[in-house]
Amino acid sequence: MNDQVLLQARGVRKSFGSIEVLKGIDLDVRQGQVVALIGASGSGKTTFLRCVNLLEEHDGGDILLDGEPIGYRVDGGRRRRLSEVKVSAQRARIGMVFQSFNLFPHLTAEGNVMLGLTKVLGKSKAEAREIAGHWLDRVGLGERRAHYPYQLSGGQQQRVAIARAVAMQPRLLLFDEVTSALDPELVAEVLGVMKSLAESGMTMLLVSHEMLFVREVSNHVVFMDQGKVAQAGTPKEVFFQPQSERLKSFLGRFHGLFG
Ligand SMILES: Nc1ncnc2c1ncn2[C@@H]1O[C@H](COP(=O)(O)OP(=O)(O)OP(=O)(O)O)[C@@H](O)[C@H]1O
Ligand SMILES: [Mg+2]
Repeated sequence: MNDQVLLQARGVRKSFGSIEVLKGIDLDVRQGQVVALIGASGSGKTTFLRCVNLLEEHDGGDILLDGEPIGYRVDGGRRRRLSEVKVSAQRARIGMVFQSFNLFPHLTAEGNVMLGLTKVLGKSKAEAREIAGHWLDRVGLGERRAHYPYQLSGGQQQRVAIARAVAMQPRLLLFDEVTSALDPELVAEVLGVMKSLAESGMTMLLVSHEMLFVREVSNHVVFMDQGKVAQAGTPKEVFFQPQSERLKSFLGRFHGLFG
């Protein structure tokens, strides 16, 4: 793992109406790192990921990817929102996988993976098909490339969604509770794919309630509480040396997993 900071968030703020949901988030993701965001419902985890991926515009602070501000440029000391074309180009460097798989129902598994490759990256159909085949193989679905989403299980659909995101060769992959909509017996296959991506050096920022997975796979854990980073550190520090009653009580929900 090298030490280069890929994603740097400093003092990120976001309000919806009069409610401030992110109250100054500082967070670094280094190249090759797996960073896990944990925290209670409503603490702002999804909102933070959506700001990183430009699905929401943050109101204050900075989000830098490879040192470049996300979503705006600075012009004569003032911020100017980037054009949609530039925003799309930035977004293409960040992949996101959601809880709901968001596959296109009228496209096969292969078609879903190919779409961004042809439409966004401008690859030929032949090349896109080859890349899609490679990644569908990697997630264990090479045999099902011609299947439509309705012919696939939830776990298989989610693996297609992961193949689709990673095929774009993003600098950073975001995962938002990608196993929470799955039946318990399908969770492991998706976590297995994520683990193998992590081991192959993919930089990942993920929100997950799968604490065993987080403990095993992540390098850095960030506990968010009411729109702030309440504690951050190695999985060992955060899970076994909680510094606040709120983190203790949050961890307590996971059935004594953390002693
Ligand atoms: N588009 C929106 N408009 C208004 N309020 C919003 C919007 N999106 C999120 N919120 C509010 O922001 C707060 C943080 O929501 P967010 O979805 O980021 O939490 P979360 O940590 O992801 O929670 P969960 O674990 O339930 O997914 C919540 O109080 C939520 O109601
Ligand atoms: Mg959420």
